[in-house]
Amino acid sequence: MSARTLELVVTAVRDTAPDVRAVTLADPDGNPLPGYVPGSHLVLALGEQGEWRNAYSLTGDGVAPATYDISVLHVPGGAGGSDWLHRELRPGMRLTAQLPRSAFAPVARARRHLLIAGGIGVTPIVSHLHAARRWGREVQVLYAFRPGRGAHLDDLETLTAPLPGPGVETCTDRDMLLARLSTVLRGQPVGTHLYVCGPGAMIDAVLSAAGDAGWPASRLHSERFGVDALDPGEPFTLTVTRGGVAERFDVPSGVSLLETLERHGVDVPNMCRQGVCGECRLPVTGGTPLHRDLFLGDDEKAAGEAVMACVSRADGPTLEVSL
Ligand code: FES
Repeated sequence: MSARTLELVVTAVRDTAPDVRAVTLADPDGNPLPGYVPGSHLVLALGEQGEWRNAYSLTGDGVAPATYDISVLHVPGGAGGSDWLHRELRPGMRLTAQLPRSAFAPVARARRHLLIAGGIGVTPIVSHLHAARRWGREVQVLYAFRPGRGAHLDDLETLTAPLPGPGVETCTDRDMLLARLSTVLRGQPVGTHLYVCGPGAMIDAVLSAAGDAGWPASRLHSERFGVDALDPGEPFTLTVTRGGVAERFDVPSGVSLLETLERHGVDVPNMCRQGVCGECRLPVTGGTPLHRDLFLGDDEKAAGEAVMACVSRADGPTLEVSL
């Protein structure tokens, strides 16, 4: 077990909404777990051999946690291992995790927190609400979900009830959400920060509406999981050095660095293909990476010495890596 990984034991598994399973994890010896920033995610290895890895938002506030709590949507046939988790995971089983990573933290100085969630994207919003409850922050929540499929509805009500602000509003129709958004976005006190997590198309719609309403980018925060949520990116030229020999490949828009290498017969170890497991890490020898992964830490991203080939790209016309 490295300093970046944890062994956890499953202490509870509960079905809390249609196709949503809540899982509670703890230290096997009952020790406190490392704290985390609200909105953080936990990368878990799932399966008998740890063959799937995926990132899940932690739903607590992260202060001296005795447990880590996640909620997992069942995606039949999906690549993240949710089939296995929903079918096989039982209390008492052990799982390996990486230390929680912050990717969607609340801004402490915000005047109000406008929290917008779609579907299972409600999980980091619940974490934000636990933190808001702890600090008495002003909140407004918009939660969109398909009829009968809302998750954590009780938590949203309970956590927002004592807080200042308009509380929770739910909707089960995309058009209804967009109509409410146009009003809500224009009615916020100066200094409000907006946080959105959900399907990629919903995030794009919310950010676009906020831009149209004059919100500065510095007050907009979004959480995207999965390569399909990423925009196709700009084309660039990739130079790969192997055994002292350099080759050049064009990486088109919409095609990943990893896919480009595979198309040219260059094998790169990979597992999640979603920027969470770390398997496809390549050393960077030239150019600047455009990091879009959830694996590298902020300091590693700033150093620019490695790139996750499955999701990240070049910040400029060229990138050089070695194998
Ligand atoms: S394959 Fe998992 S981070 Fe790229």
